[in-house]
Amino acid sequence: MLPQATAHQPSPCRAAAHPILPVAALLLLSSYLAITYLPTAAPILLIAGGGGGGDMISSCAGLYRGRGGGRAVAASVEEFGAVGDGVTSNTAAFRRAVATLEARAAGGGGGARLEVPAGRWLTGSFNLTSRFTLFLHHGALILASQDPEEWPLIAPLPSYGRGRERLGPRHISLIHGEGLNDVVITGNNGTIDGQGRIWWDLWWNRTLNHTRGHLIELVNSTNIMISDITLRNSPFWTVHPVYCRNVVIRNLTVLAPLNAPNTDGIDPDSSSEVCIEDCYIESGDDLVAVKSGWDQYGVSVAMPSSNIIIQRISGTTPTCSGVGFGSEMSGGISNVIVRDLHVWNSAQAVRIKSDVGRGGYITNITIENVRMEKVKVPIRFSRGADDHSDDMYDRSALPRISNVLIRNVVGVDLQRAPMLEAVHGAVYEGICFRNVSFTVIRRQDRWHCESVYGEAHDVFPAPCEEFRKNGSSSWCGPS
Ligand SMILES: *[C@@H]1O[C@H](CO)[C@@H](O)[C@H](O)[C@H]1NC(C)=O
Ligand SMILES: *[C@@H]1O[C@H](CO)[C@@H](O)[C@H](O)[C@H]1NC(C)=O
Ligand SMILES: *[C@@H]1O[C@H](CO)[C@@H](O)[C@H](O)[C@H]1NC(C)=O
Ligand SMILES: *[C@@H]1O[C@H](CO)[C@@H](O)[C@H](O)[C@H]1NC(C)=O
Ligand SMILES: *[C@@H]1O[C@H](CO)[C@@H](O)[C@H](O)[C@H]1NC(C)=O
Ligand SMILES: *[C@@H]1O[C@H](CO)[C@@H](O)[C@H](O)[C@H]1NC(C)=O
Ligand SMILES: *[C@@H]1O[C@H](CO)[C@@H](O)[C@H](O)[C@H]1NC(C)=O
Ligand SMILES: *[C@@H]1O[C@H](CO)[C@@H](O)[C@H](O)[C@H]1NC(C)=O
Ligand SMILES: *[C@@H]1O[C@H](CO)[C@@H](O)[C@H](O)[C@H]1NC(C)=O
Repeated sequence: MLPQATAHQPSPCRAAAHPILPVAALLLLSSYLAITYLPTAAPILLIAGGGGGGDMISSCAGLYRGRGGGRAVAASVEEFGAVGDGVTSNTAAFRRAVATLEARAAGGGGGARLEVPAGRWLTGSFNLTSRFTLFLHHGALILASQDPEEWPLIAPLPSYGRGRERLGPRHISLIHGEGLNDVVITGNNGTIDGQGRIWWDLWWNRTLNHTRGHLIELVNSTNIMISDITLRNSPFWTVHPVYCRNVVIRNLTVLAPLNAPNTDGIDPDSSSEVCIEDCYIESGDDLVAVKSGWDQYGVSVAMPSSNIIIQRISGTTPTCSGVGFGSEMSGGISNVIVRDLHVWNSAQAVRIKSDVGRGGYITNITIENVRMEKVKVPIRFSRGADDHSDDMYDRSALPRISNVLIRNVVGVDLQRAPMLEAVHGAVYEGICFRNVSFTVIRRQDRWHCESVYGEAHDVFPAPCEEFRKNGSSSWCGPS
């Protein structure tokens, strides 16, 4: 029996089709971006274009450098005995299919594709392999088993030191991969449904023994493409790439009940060269949350999240944020571009969360072209809720937050003006607001700032004193 009283129960925090641009156009856009205040050293510029309110629409999908859907061998899961009746457990069939296809493709290097035809395919957790495509045809529905035994326990992540919700091991994700290269999960809008209700009940009832599993988790892997499908009802965070590089997540529909706890949409964690674009997400937690490990564990693993593009994301989350940074950010987060974000009926459009003991940094962040309607707090920097992995965290490890540019933002029908509070003892600097307009503010139209400093230009309503041209940050560009 786990000591429930001491077990950790973190509360849930309080589109379209675009071709990949040819290289020449990208280079042109890169030089355009280079002179518009983006970090020039960033490799991200080689693949990111558009932004700045121009008409050009870009894709960052080139960050995936695998073979794509074309594989040397292919087979349907039915060939491995799977039955698409929604009742038969197909766990063994999926596992056999991946193992057999891996063996068939071995040596050739051309990889394998597993096809899931229309039908209702109930399964427990299974692992993917390298040079592999999981393809969900139109009408294909992968249903997650509701038997917790079908989600075996695995070791906690080193950068968390324990399961995120409970001490010790954690449930594996439904679709899992570790140490892989070139993995594609795609289809013609087939669906993966985590049937997470049983897990949310365990959380609500405080009877969860171990940390819930994700719908899809890839660990220590490169060249990941997840696209063109619908993901529903994840038990916990929906898509979790951790310790990964070259990850593309695009054109997904991610759905969970708006009160389902911790059902984040997409959480890049200690990962770099990540592209997240053209997704519609509605869930009970952040639509996208950039993370990098927890307190002293994240500090010692020291794997940052960097070079990340998040573009054309839209959706709603009544208690959380469109895009969140943290609160786990102890390995550092840098060089992130968020643009063309549209959020409505949500608690925040953008939130930076940290805590005492996190250490780490969040720096070189650009957030631009944001629209929001019916949002409680448009932009929020918040102190954590004293949410720690254990009592061994270093109370003097403060987060360093700097160089955050927020521009071209329009918000209508809000409860409050921005609320910007640094973690106690920390000072956030180089925060820049440009061309930002918040109107129809129903409760409090004065900005609230504590230990957060920077510049503001063309901002309505008037920002707090701390932003009235205090020093000049090169991050903010020429005034
Ligand atoms: C997005 O996915 C849908 C299927 O869900 C597909 O029909 C459409 O072509 C995809 N769009 C792009 C740009 O790939
Ligand atoms: C942030 O950008 C500056 C250049 O603007 C660069 O010197 C610095 O190394 C970057 N920081 C990180 C952590 O990437
Ligand atoms: C799936 O991968 C995880 C992590 O690598 C491993 O612990 C687990 O045993 C694997 N499961 C199966 C069924 O092979
Ligand atoms: C990550 O995966 C690679 C194989 O791609 C492996 O060689 C390496 O040991 C793994 N690293 C860790 C920390 O597990
Ligand atoms: C894919 O399916 C989801 C859920 O059924 C739906 O909301 C979405 O519009 C579909 N997307 C496309 C491109 O057909
Ligand atoms: C858990 O909560 C649900 C309602 O959320 C309830 O129906 C169920 O009986 C509870 N289960 C236990 C084991 O308490
Ligand atoms: C949690 O642990 C208790 C006590 O060992 C056990 O009765 C219960 O079935 C477990 N629940 C789950 C979801 O594994
Ligand atoms: C200000 O922001 C709005 C909304 O994003 C945009 O339409 C407009 O072009 C921006 N103005 C300037 C001068 O960048
Ligand atoms: C300017 O910012 C510094 C911190 O960078 C702060 O100590 C100082 O009080 C600020 N000055 C004004 C006028 O806000």
